[in-house]
Parts: sequence; structure tokens; C-alpha cells
Amino acid sequence: PRPDDHVIVLFGATGDLAKRKLLPGLYHLARAGLLPSRYRVIGSAPAADALGTEQFREQAREAVAEFGRTKPEGPVWQEFESALSFGAADPGAYGPLLTAVREAEEAVGNSPRRLFHLAVPPKAFPSVVQELGSTGLAEGGRLIVEKPFGTDLPSARALDETIHAVFDESRIFRIDHFLGKESVDNILALRFANGLFEPVWNRDHISHVQIDVPEQLTIEGRAGFFEGTGTFRDMIVTHPFQILAFIAMEPPAALTADSLRTEKDKVFQALRPLDPACTVRGQYEGYRSEPGVDRHSDTETFTALRVELDNWRWAGVPFFLRSGKALAQGRHVVTLGFREPPLRMFPLAAQDTAGGRHDELVIDFADPGRITARFLAKEPGPDMRLGEAEMVFAYTDCFNTAHALEGYERLILDAMLGDQSLFTSSHGIERLWEASAPLLENPPPVEPYARDSWGPESIRRLIQPYRWYLPESR
Ligand code: BG6
Repeated sequence: PRPDDHVIVLFGATGDLAKRKLLPGLYHLARAGLLPSRYRVIGSAPAADALGTEQFREQAREAVAEFGRTKPEGPVWQEFESALSFGAADPGAYGPLLTAVREAEEAVGNSPRRLFHLAVPPKAFPSVVQELGSTGLAEGGRLIVEKPFGTDLPSARALDETIHAVFDESRIFRIDHFLGKESVDNILALRFANGLFEPVWNRDHISHVQIDVPEQLTIEGRAGFFEGTGTFRDMIVTHPFQILAFIAMEPPAALTADSLRTEKDKVFQALRPLDPACTVRGQYEGYRSEPGVDRHSDTETFTALRVELDNWRWAGVPFFLRSGKALAQGRHVVTLGFREPPLRMFPLAAQDTAGGRHDELVIDFADPGRITARFLAKEPGPDMRLGEAEMVFAYTDCFNTAHALEGYERLILDAMLGDQSLFTSSHGIERLWEASAPLLENPPPVEPYARDSWGPESIRRLIQPYRWYLPESR
């Protein structure tokens, strides 16, 4: 489906996210024929960072050349570029943006729908939303809000109140780009479209779950954002917890936004308050010398923690979450570890005795994604010896991935279509902040870790008697 005609306003248009993801993503949607037949994209930023329309087009061209999947050239690029303009906006001074919106709407014709994407630091959300309300820009428009949504429960509630004064819930799209990843969406298909997996998807068969998102990137010059945010708020409370909800939820009554959000919220409802004693906070060596970082900074660039769900399906099954910067590999992996069979009648494989690892289902949800079932099998030969084996589903082997959209692309498209299925609810987010309170109030001290490692040593203890699936040892 193609969305109705739109005027899209990109707040934070000169920032990192706009350059890395949003401008290349919009261009990719244009190439895929998924933008409205008539549209305009207006970049916005405070006057101090404002660009002229020509400069903005130049910036977009460079961003697409560096981060896009296809080159900024040919007729599609010409058309996309000519749809870009710029309008500065500062609190109390929205004149230039209002003019840009009026011009864009005249160019598109027939009262297009407005979509505002807030790719700005969280502290700027309230003022932008209030201005959208007081200038009348918000009328009939939809709002995409970046994460983190608040920094704790009171701030998330206050932010919700501010936004609800201007936009009703059906027009608010709290974005978490992991939910737009093909292979995260595929968790729903895997679980609920097949008879094979769901019967064992519970505490009777699964011993523990790992959700692991190590990154090789450092803070990449984003000290201004990162110092006040840290890995827990930047990553853990958003992306891995949203994945956890897809892994842990009960089958929804239907594949609708309401049913999906209801089931995810129930998972968060069952989340036991986070325990500082089951959390490792780390900081990569050299972080305190990064430009813009306080020399005594206590901000974590790494978090690993153990969480539990108090519900019938998952009682007693620990979920281990890890994410951090400057680690050895960039990966996106969910591992479901299965329980041992009740009797051991085979000679034990050496690895099995050494590592306490049993069969696993490994969901690699980086684009383009793969799922691997790892298990023991008989080695060929006269003896009954067991060896490690695997069955692999790779997206690229089974499907033509040429039409795959990246997380942001899929979600911006859904927001234009008004489909909230893959967006987070305010209840869910508030519940996550509520459960995080003990940890936020009492964070354990940060432990240093070497760059290119897998984090502080103490994470091994955290996961005992299991072990981290990464680094892969087989
Ligand atoms: C963003 C975080 O939400 O997710 C970044 O702000 C992080 O710090 C990024 O690098 C990771 O996203 P992806 O899709 O590249 O794994």
C-alpha cells in the first residue's frame, strides 16, 4: 500500500540519526516506490545549525552516498532531492518552519497529511511538541518520537502528558527501530505460524534466554547525547526489552496493533523489578578521554543483567541481556537454551561436559538475519559418538531479500500508513521504567573493560551456571 500524500518534517535534520538512517531510509522508500505519490520532506533544526535548502540537499546527498544502499543519482534521486527543503525552528521562533510547511503544502496540494519526526535529544521533546501545538502545526498530523522516552518513570509520565495535550494516542508513534527489523518481526512468524516451536517455548523446555547486542562502535562523537544517557537508557530499556517481549509474549488474539501491544504490556507487567546485584555496568577504557566526556564520568557504556518474568510460562527462567560499546563484535543475537533431556544415555561430548551448554536455538536478527538450531547428532562411524550439528535458516538462501526494508524504513512507512502495530505503548514504556527504578536509584559502580573485549570479567559470574553464547566457540 502507498501512503496518502504527506509533508514530513524532520526535527534534528542535521544530526547523526538523520544522516545515518533517516535521510538514506526515506530515499530508499522513494526508490522502492513506497513514498506517497506527492510528498515533501522539510529538514528542521535550531537557527544556530540551520541550513539553506541547497545545503540541506547537499547534506542529504552526502548522507545517502555514505550510508545509503543505493547511490544518490538518476531520476528518482532528482525527484527526491527536489522534494527537500529546510525551515529553522527555535522555541518561540517557528516562523521559518511555518513558511516552509506552507510552501510544501501548496506544492503538494489537497491538504496533505503532516508527519513530524522528533530525531532530537530527549530533553528537546517537550518544547518541540508544545510549539507544534501552539503554532497549530500539529493539527491532523502524526508524531514519531525517538527513544529513550523519558529517563525514568516520572519523566516518561510527564512527557506523555505533554504529548497528549497536543496529540491523541492514535497519532503518536513511539519508535524503537529494532521492532522494524525483518528478523525481529519474524519472531512472531516463527512462533505463531508454525506448530514446531511454540509447544516447547516455555519453562518446561527452555532453561534460559540470552538477548545480546554487542556493538563495535564507540560513542562516535555523540558525547553530548551519551553522557546524559548511558547504555542502560540508550539500549537496554528500549531495544533488548522490546525483543524480550516478542520472545516472551503469549499468542496475541489477532495480528492487530491493539492485541500485540496488550500482550507485550503483559510481559512487562510480569517483569520482576531489576536487581542491582544482578547487573554489571561497564565503561570502556579510554571513554573518559573522549571529547566532551567528563574525566570522572560514571556513565556506563556497557550493561549486562539478569531479569525474570513472574508468569506461568517463564517462572524461574532467567533472561540475560547484554549490550555495550567498543566490544569485540557487532551482533544482534537471541539464544534460547534448552533443558537437558531427563536421562543421559550417550557418552558426553567434551564440550558438553566442559561448558554446560545444551541444544540451542539461535536467532541472529541483524539484517538479513538467520536462525540456527544447534544440537547434538551421531558422528558417522561404528561408535555412538556425539558431535555438534546445526540446521540453518538464512534469509538470503530462502527468500529474495531485494525488497527488504531496514528498521527505520519499515517504521516510517507504517507511521505514514497510521499502523501502530510495531510501535511501543505508553503503558509498556512506563512499566519498564517502573521496573528499572531499583537499578536507576542504586546503580552498581562502573567496571572498566578493555576495548574489543566482551565486557567486564564479572559477566561470566552473572550468567552462571550458563555461559554467554558469544563469542561463538564452535
Ligand atoms: C540506537 C542507539 O538506538 O541503536 C545507538 O542510540 C546504537 O547507540 C543503535 O548504536 C544500534 O542500532 P543498530 O540497528 O545499528 O544495531
